[in-house]
Amino acid sequence: MYDFLTGPMFWLSLGICLIGMLVRFVLYFRGLSWQLDRVAYKAYPFQGFKGAVNSIVKWLIPFGTYGWRKQPFMTVIFFGFHIGAVLVPLFLLAHNLFLKEKIGLSLPTLNPLIADVLTWTVIVSAIFLALRRIALPEVRILTTWYDYVILLLAVAPFITGLVARYELGSYTSWLTVHILCGEALLIAAPFTKLSHIVLFFASRAQLGMDYGIKRGGMKGKGMAW
Ligand code: HEM
Ligand code: HEM
Repeated sequence: MYDFLTGPMFWLSLGICLIGMLVRFVLYFRGLSWQLDRVAYKAYPFQGFKGAVNSIVKWLIPFGTYGWRKQPFMTVIFFGFHIGAVLVPLFLLAHNLFLKEKIGLSLPTLNPLIADVLTWTVIVSAIFLALRRIALPEVRILTTWYDYVILLLAVAPFITGLVARYELGSYTSWLTVHILCGEALLIAAPFTKLSHIVLFFASRAQLGMDYGIKRGGMKGKGMAW
């Protein structure tokens, strides 16, 4: 099982994730219509680019937008979850040793204590993200079982990775479960709302261009509409 998951299944899940995400990203932009959106995307590339970068950067800064400032509790649990969710899989020492062996490449690595702290923060924040969906009526009415499944899918590699690391039970069994959960997440990403990992950048860029070119940005500068 371990050999299968770290062999063919590893390549398959990584391939599905990378190619699938690329396809989603390209399809997002190909689906845009300047006539329907009433945004002259191509006519004002500089203003559009400026608006896109501005929107992406502001949303990536904690409390950087009005939206984040209006919901401080959400902002803290959101960044608590996401900082670890992005950094740990990419920069964990164990992952990079594995990558080095597989493809001969590795990224800079996190100090193990920091990796542990980030992983715990992801798990605790995920609990609060779930509680928020239950506690706030305005979020509850938008929530279905699908949102909980995705949250569970996202947090499962963090829980099982930590259990394996602390050797609570059989190390090899938990590592196998961990890799299975990690690969399930990679495969699910392009087909579910986890595609936001790349589509966040696409939709923020689109809205940023909308603001940079049309609403505000070019207002009163002689643009026809
Ligand atoms: C796809 C194949 C994957 C492989 C082969 C893999 C392999 C490993 C290994 C060998 C460990 C170390 C356990 C130890 O310390 O002895 C580990 C830990 C961990 N992995 Fe993965 N992993 C994979 C995917 C993922 C994914 C997708 C995520 C998160 C989204 C993830 C998150 C973690 C975490 C949070 C830990 C524990 C971190 C800590 O030390 O505090 N892994 N993984
Ligand atoms: C740079 C990469 C990423 C960005 C920019 C990003 C951004 C976002 C945004 C804007 C939301 C919506 C928050 C809201 O409801 O207002 C969200 C939700 C979520 N993200 Fe990410 N994300 C990224 C990576 C990830 C990764 C790697 C994972 C999983 C390992 C993940 C899992 C989730 C989950 C589970 C939710 C839903 C939380 C809930 O139930 O409320 N994200 N993300």
